[in-house]
Amino acid sequence: MQGAILLLLALTNVVHTKGKSSDPCEAELVLDPRPHSVSITEFGAVGDGKVDNTLAFQNAVFYLKSFADKGGAQLYVPAGRWLTGSFNLTSHLTLFLGKGAVILGSHDLTRWETIDPLPSYGRGIDVPGRRYRSLINGYMLRDVVITGDNGTIDGQGSMWWDQLANGSLKYSRPHIIEVMSSNYVIVSNLTLSNPPAYSIHPVYCSDVHIHNVSITSPAELPHTDGIVLDSSDNVCVQDSAITMGYDSIALKSGWDEYGITFNRSTSNACIRRVDLRSYSGSAIAFGSEMSGGISNIRVEQANILSSSRGIELRTTRGRGGFIKDIIVTDIVMEDVQMAFSATGQWGSHPDDDFNPDALPVVENIMLRNITGTNIGVAGKFTGIPELPFTSICLSFIRLSMSYTSSAPWTCSDVVGSSSFVFPEPCLELMSPSSCILGPRSAGKLAAS
Ligand SMILES: *[C@@H]1O[C@H](CO)[C@@H](O)[C@H](O)[C@H]1NC(C)=O
Ligand SMILES: *[C@@H]1O[C@H](CO)[C@@H](O)[C@H](O)[C@H]1NC(C)=O
Ligand SMILES: *[C@@H]1O[C@H](CO)[C@@H](O)[C@H](O)[C@H]1NC(C)=O
Ligand SMILES: *[C@@H]1O[C@H](CO)[C@@H](O)[C@H](O)[C@H]1NC(C)=O
Ligand SMILES: *[C@@H]1O[C@H](CO)[C@@H](O)[C@H](O)[C@H]1NC(C)=O
Ligand SMILES: *[C@@H]1O[C@H](CO)[C@@H](O)[C@H](O)[C@H]1NC(C)=O
Ligand SMILES: *[C@@H]1O[C@H](CO)[C@@H](O)[C@H](O)[C@H]1NC(C)=O
Repeated sequence: MQGAILLLLALTNVVHTKGKSSDPCEAELVLDPRPHSVSITEFGAVGDGKVDNTLAFQNAVFYLKSFADKGGAQLYVPAGRWLTGSFNLTSHLTLFLGKGAVILGSHDLTRWETIDPLPSYGRGIDVPGRRYRSLINGYMLRDVVITGDNGTIDGQGSMWWDQLANGSLKYSRPHIIEVMSSNYVIVSNLTLSNPPAYSIHPVYCSDVHIHNVSITSPAELPHTDGIVLDSSDNVCVQDSAITMGYDSIALKSGWDEYGITFNRSTSNACIRRVDLRSYSGSAIAFGSEMSGGISNIRVEQANILSSSRGIELRTTRGRGGFIKDIIVTDIVMEDVQMAFSATGQWGSHPDDDFNPDALPVVENIMLRNITGTNIGVAGKFTGIPELPFTSICLSFIRLSMSYTSSAPWTCSDVVGSSSFVFPEPCLELMSPSSCILGPRSAGKLAAS
């Protein structure tokens, strides 16, 4: 009996987080090396940028499924241009893109299946109803790594952007990587470009680490997002650079009545050492879909450059949920039109069935040690009259404004406090009440 248990342990991948830290960026994910490796070329793939390799990727993953209980396996993609439609990953798999390897998203619609909308959204993000499956998918997996020696995954989003713009999109756009209901996921050492919609979308996941990735999309495109953390917990995003048309990093958790019913928050996430540019969106956005709640998030050491908004909290009546216990610290901003924004009037509902009495809670938001140069507007905080945003705490903030004429701050239905903030904030943010810190945030601050 004991022998059988030992044998079972030997055959099962040991996946765990090293150290006891509850801070997701301090807990290193330890994944075993894969004893087996195969190259995509063994499945007949051709890296000329023209031949469609969708079946090769699907067959390779199907074959590697049989290694899941034998220590897992690696699918190696060598240098070349590998055109493919949507394919799935499997547990205990590493997808490794060698130097010079480029995976290209196909423009052939027959290579893209459609799937049900996410239950926490009730419909696709672009159009009601179904959505296209993403280029690289994980569903109900454990121990998955997407990495490489700076290989590239190019979503070739132009076709999807055109379809969105000209109204011919039948289903909502795919993402480059979507991992759903999975645990222990690493994305690292890669370049992603031109996402049809989002670049990396962990949804209903735990223990996700995204390290050392570079993500780009043309600036003039408003509808592309970098990393979207959605109803997921224990997430670390670090050492990455993101240049996006819309949001660089967004935290979400479902949309109105669908998200309230699904009720899964995004919590315990850390984002640090990132360079972000968001031409028409926000470098870091909380919401607007946040109906399952967003809490216990730390953002630190971010450079926010050439962006429309720096840090933004978005919500609206009917959303329910909460955004609370957020710390944003040690940030440098340059050329940002609005450094901080918090709005309770975002609007945008999945359908007419939302409950207007479902009011979101926004509280305990700390913004600390932030400097900015060439900032258009310092901050605009417009809460909800029946349920104002509370405990908004600003400290050690110094912004140099590009215009001196316009009012740097606008506030309504918000309560908070400030110390050492320049330019001087509005009265609503100068109440003497101090912030109530969550246990993690308090520990972090006491330590610093
Ligand atoms: C991909 O995974 C989904 C969900 O498990 C499944 O429905 C679909 O058939 C899979 N597609 C392929 C090509 O294996
Ligand atoms: C980041 O990834 C590149 C390859 O993409 C690698 O050369 C570099 O060493 C990595 N840096 C870190 C800090 O992991
Ligand atoms: C990674 O690849 C991208 C695109 O090919 C390139 O721009 C970048 O310089 C590379 N980074 C490293 C660290 O090699
Ligand atoms: C919309 O854009 C797509 C992708 O470029 C194109 O195939 C389609 O013909 C366009 N439709 C219209 C109505 O312009
Ligand atoms: C990323 O690259 C760095 C430097 O080469 C390496 O130490 C690290 O293990 C890589 N990460 C993964 C998951 O391969
Ligand atoms: C959502 O889940 C939390 C626990 O995770 C629970 O306390 C709360 O009552 C739930 N809310 C709803 C609306 O079901
Ligand atoms: C404030 O943030 C800057 C930029 O990240 C950092 O260099 C500095 O050490 C921080 N100051 C304090 C007192 O933490």
